Amino acid sequence: ESKRLAPTPPMGWMTWNFFADKIHEQDLREMADAMVASGMVEAGYNYLIIDDGWQGGRDNRNNIIADPKKFPSGIKALADYVHSKGIKLGIYSDAAQLTCAGYTGSLGFEEQDAKTFASWGIDYLKYDYCYAPKDSAIAVARYTKMGEALRKSGRDIVFGVCEWGQLQPWHWALNAGGQLWRSTFDVRDKWRNLDKRHPDQAGYGILDIVDINADLHAYAGPGRWNDADMLVVGLYGKPGPSGDLGGVGMNDMQYQSQMSLWSVMASPLTATNDVRNMNEATKRILLNKEVIAVNQDPLGKQAERKVKDDTWNVFVKPLQNGDMAVAILNRGDAAKNYSIDWANLGLNGKYEVRDLWEHKTVGKGKGWKGLVQPHETKLFRLKKI
Ligand code: DGJ
Repeated sequence: ESKRLAPTPPMGWMTWNFFADKIHEQDLREMADAMVASGMVEAGYNYLIIDDGWQGGRDNRNNIIADPKKFPSGIKALADYVHSKGIKLGIYSDAAQLTCAGYTGSLGFEEQDAKTFASWGIDYLKYDYCYAPKDSAIAVARYTKMGEALRKSGRDIVFGVCEWGQLQPWHWALNAGGQLWRSTFDVRDKWRNLDKRHPDQAGYGILDIVDINADLHAYAGPGRWNDADMLVVGLYGKPGPSGDLGGVGMNDMQYQSQMSLWSVMASPLTATNDVRNMNEATKRILLNKEVIAVNQDPLGKQAERKVKDDTWNVFVKPLQNGDMAVAILNRGDAAKNYSIDWANLGLNGKYEVRDLWEHKTVGKGKGWKGLVQPHETKLFRLKKI
């Protein structure tokens, strides 16, 4: 059942890191239009997900309602609009009375809210864990309650567990009905948290997330994904109305790395940039079909990190047709040469190496060597010859 709902990692666009709770239906319609016009939908980003801040409390029958100032036409009308464009609609709630941003949560109203979401035409629920106890049994019970409510709602609704990895959801979220689960605290538009002694609970950089998510490869597969959080590609430290959630901004090489790494880690690909105003670099990164094909490969394997030192990380992701995706990350701050024998990754024989960013063959044989820029991730597809 989980495999049917999310056979490959879900892809889409989410409001949070750009808008925070300053959302409005008009912006979301524009975003849906832009997702089509820019080629995002065609490339596979087919969920538009409303994050925290849409809620306007409950009516006198305890039905959850949207804030009428933000959604004057209602969520159902927005769902109809995005559906007419071939986009699915996601929404957000929390397994407590309040959400992280202080809006109405679903605790105690799971079945009623699931029915409401289904009646609106919702296709995806991100279910957060703020104001809920740090206790595995309680988390399992609360997520299971909502998971069952969604299953009984009469509509296919993908269930995204957003507990930030503290209670190891990779062990229980699938049974609770989830297709994906966040593995870390929130992503921010930055390369790394410099001070490891005080991990900033409000947000991690790319390397911080990689170092947690990479070790979870065994838990991923069709219908069960480790969610490394949003792609911050294209924010450049200047999110929109959200103000600054704590990201200092990155350069295109770093954004390209995030895209490569999230792809080999089979993470859901959820953009959060202003799709209405994308520069060429952002489009090139988010819309690279060869890279997306690695992420969406039907075999559904998450890469294993086979090399792990202070400078180099090498990831290997087996693909359905027998090819291997190999990502080589230079974590260091200087350009460096790297040389690798495929046999050291357990890949014997000779391979043709296609660079998925250069879109060309860059070598043939038993290994590869070349220059890797600071914070660059080479992404190769190896075909046995
Ligand atoms: C915490 C989550 O991890 C974020 O992605 C976002 O949903 C916020 N809560 C919303 O309050």
